[in-house]
Amino acid sequence: MEKSLVLVKPDGVQRGLIGEVIARFERRGLRLIGAKFLQVSKELAEQHYAEHKGKAFYDGLISYITSAPVMAMVWEGPNAVAAIRQTVGSTKPAEAAPGTIRHDFALEVGRNLIHASDKPETGEREAALWFKAEELVAWSRAVDAWIFEQ
Ligand code: RTP
Ligand code: MG
Repeated sequence: MEKSLVLVKPDGVQRGLIGEVIARFERRGLRLIGAKFLQVSKELAEQHYAEHKGKAFYDGLISYITSAPVMAMVWEGPNAVAAIRQTVGSTKPAEAAPGTIRHDFALEVGRNLIHASDKPETGEREAALWFKAEELVAWSRAVDAWIFEQ
């Protein structure tokens, strides 16, 4: 099953939007397999955002993600990566479609509330970076057959 790491970033936590984000993914039918609330270390932030090192926004991004606690989660489901990014909306909130999380709750790219893995391989890599194997729970829901075709 495809996995995505989702972070409610420090602005989302400070603004009391953890429940709102979880509710949207639960309603979509995705299955939560891991969750933890943590203060992100500089080391973890740098590993997570390694692809952006050297970009103009990199230093601001590292200080943003380490500025206050985050809610880290792994969600799974068929096409979970694309489905979650669709629910999250475009990176720049002003370009995000109405009804998406970034449209509905954010205005600026540097305060865009949420992270979601960008490819299935990234989902696997990020899930392993943020969670130990034993922190991810393999389980099924009675309702799964009514949400997942296979
Ligand atoms: P994320 O990784 O957080 O889910 O967001 P994303 O894939 O939509 O965007 P990405 O290109 O990976 O950028 C990571 C985060 O860096 C900040 N950013 N700032 N000032 C800028 O131009 C700029 N561009 C990106 C955003 O917080 C973005 O989510
Ligand atoms: Mg990204």
